[in-house]
Amino acid sequence: MAILVLDSGVGGLTVLREVRAVIPNQQIIYVGDDGGFPYGEWPEEALVDRLVGLFTHYLKQHDIELAIVACNTASTLIMPSLREAFDIPFVGTVPAIKPAAERTVSGRISVLATPGTVNRRYTQHLIDEHANDADVNLVASTELAKMAERYMQHREINTDQLWQEIKPCFISWGGKRTDIVVLGCTHYPFLVNEMRKLAPWPVDWIDPSEAIALRAHALLNGQNSNICLATNPSSDLAYLTSNKPNPAAQRLLQGFGLEVREHEPVPLRAIGP
Ligand code: DGL
Repeated sequence: MAILVLDSGVGGLTVLREVRAVIPNQQIIYVGDDGGFPYGEWPEEALVDRLVGLFTHYLKQHDIELAIVACNTASTLIMPSLREAFDIPFVGTVPAIKPAAERTVSGRISVLATPGTVNRRYTQHLIDEHANDADVNLVASTELAKMAERYMQHREINTDQLWQEIKPCFISWGGKRTDIVVLGCTHYPFLVNEMRKLAPWPVDWIDPSEAIALRAHALLNGQNSNICLATNPSSDLAYLTSNKPNPAAQRLLQGFGLEVREHEPVPLRAIGP
């Protein structure tokens, strides 16, 4: 049985690499919904429909033991619908506001994410529940996920643009400065080294990928996982829903040890931003 990892593009690979480290022997099926990318500005109802359609398809296609929604924009919206619709355990990826609130010294935290994640009721709930004593600054970016895709596929980065996107995270007043930036989108850890170079002062950048992998591991152990030993590296598979020839994306997925297969066209909600 396999683990399904889904994101709107290559961002979920930041989660996949941690899953590989923590659960090295289980087959992984990676779904990059590039046909729906970017999720950040999708209307909520349409995104729920699309994701339920995708999971319905891939849970039929493969013997999946556990699924990871490696996308904050999707997870902050869809976890209850997935848990109601399907019988397997799901692990979501949500902004690491709780650990940030526990760790901050200055009490000033920034959460960098897509507009969808920033505007979700669930994100506000995380703040109300866990970060009441902190000053939480939500920073929405429509560009960063696209920049991360370009960076990972073509090694292209516009540092001026990157600075404009992350600049609102850095706040200093009353003698206190932001000391934590939560990376609230799975694409962003790919850019963190570039972000670090531009930061006007050192901050702690929180990437929740390892915690997600550990949660998946705990759930699998709890149900005596029927682990399928990967006999060769190509037994991990990837699908790109656009089915458009994109050699750079394919090379990247192959570099992560994934064999790229053709996505079988299925009717999916296609209302984009
Ligand atoms: N990687 C996704 C996330 O974690 C979002 C990227 C997108 O806008 O599609 O939120």
